[in-house]
Amino acid sequence: MPENPFKPSFGSTPPVLVGRDDELEDFAIGLEEGPGSPNRATIFTGARGVGKTVMLTEVASHALSAGWISADATAEAGMLEELHDQLLVKGRELLPSPSRDVTSFGAGGLSIGIAPGDRRELSWRQRMEAIIRTLNERGAGILITVDEVHSGVEELRRLAAAYQHFVRDDLDVAIAFAGLPSAVSALLNDKVLTFLRRAHRVTLEDVPLEAVERALQATITGHGRRIDPEALRAAAEATLGYPFLIQLVGFHIWRQHPARAVITHEDVVAGISAARRRLGTTVHEAGLADLSDVDRTFLVAMAQDPERSKLAAIAARMGVTAGYASQYRARLIEAGMIAPAGHGLVVFAVPYLREYLHEHAASLGLDTLKLDRPENGLV
Ligand SMILES: Nc1ncnc2c1ncn2[C@@H]1O[C@H](COP(=O)(O)OP(=O)(O)O)[C@@H](O)[C@H]1O
Ligand SMILES: [Mg+2]
Repeated sequence: MPENPFKPSFGSTPPVLVGRDDELEDFAIGLEEGPGSPNRATIFTGARGVGKTVMLTEVASHALSAGWISADATAEAGMLEELHDQLLVKGRELLPSPSRDVTSFGAGGLSIGIAPGDRRELSWRQRMEAIIRTLNERGAGILITVDEVHSGVEELRRLAAAYQHFVRDDLDVAIAFAGLPSAVSALLNDKVLTFLRRAHRVTLEDVPLEAVERALQATITGHGRRIDPEALRAAAEATLGYPFLIQLVGFHIWRQHPARAVITHEDVVAGISAARRRLGTTVHEAGLADLSDVDRTFLVAMAQDPERSKLAAIAARMGVTAGYASQYRARLIEAGMIAPAGHGLVVFAVPYLREYLHEHAASLGLDTLKLDRPENGLV
């Protein structure tokens, strides 16, 4: 029985990367253009599940194929030493071994050996600079990727400051960050991190359905099965072009009858509903858990509209003024849960969130019926 090729979990590289050619191309140009290229500092942002972590993996593997070395961390305490140690390990073949005389390498004869004592005597930046310089001299550029960036991480500021020095010293370096939109905008407002405002900001979006269809088809046939054309179209449409759903839908339509040669329309119908349930327990739950009660009330009030919602109507349902509701509108846009849709209108930015809210409003402590009557003043 062929193995299920889809990868419906955060951070897993998909079997086929859908619709990211332009973003990868921009990054590749940055590496080619040399130090000073604006594309050498990239920030990927976008909703949960849109493929930010996957993009970091992709750019790192592109860099590797171009002869670069990448050090990859998540924004948290300890990330600087992690990056440093990864460079030592990955650059091992190009770096002088600690047992040999290493004092002649690096800037001003700095030792780049890993003798533990060095860590105390030299700053992190000096140690990094010596390693990067040596690796650059041996032909390898250095890419640093940091995932899940947010402004609460002090070490990110130190990395940013050091990176600016590396660039000023003409070192062959590049940096790629990824984070949720609200986290990235907080970061860009940070005084210490002003240089990031000049970085190449890439908002990852949902991908075109034709590309989804081709990817589903290629993945299924590439792994020894087939799918009816109509079933394929229905599956692609159900993903709404949202990358996480491509994997979830693919995974669940496959697993209905994995021993059969053909994925049928029935498999697709059952697979889609399983995928949507799974989306709820991963993306929706996590997204809602990050919000305040009032934010959630706003969303439930919004969920009563079939498509777009008027801010004035949401405010009325919540029993609050339009001014008050507009503060929450701004917060929810920042959080990537909703998006502006023309004057005074908003839509959900997360697929199937409306349906999820309908099904779970009661368990979220937000009864939709009560919301119909503003006098209940849920706020
Ligand atoms: N371009 C893409 N094409 C197909 N699947 C993708 C793509 N980008 C991400 N995925 C899938 O979506 C899911 C979420 O990706 P991830 O990078 O973890 O999202 P994020 O970091 O933005 O939350 C994973 O299962 C991944 O395999
Ligand atoms: Mg991620």
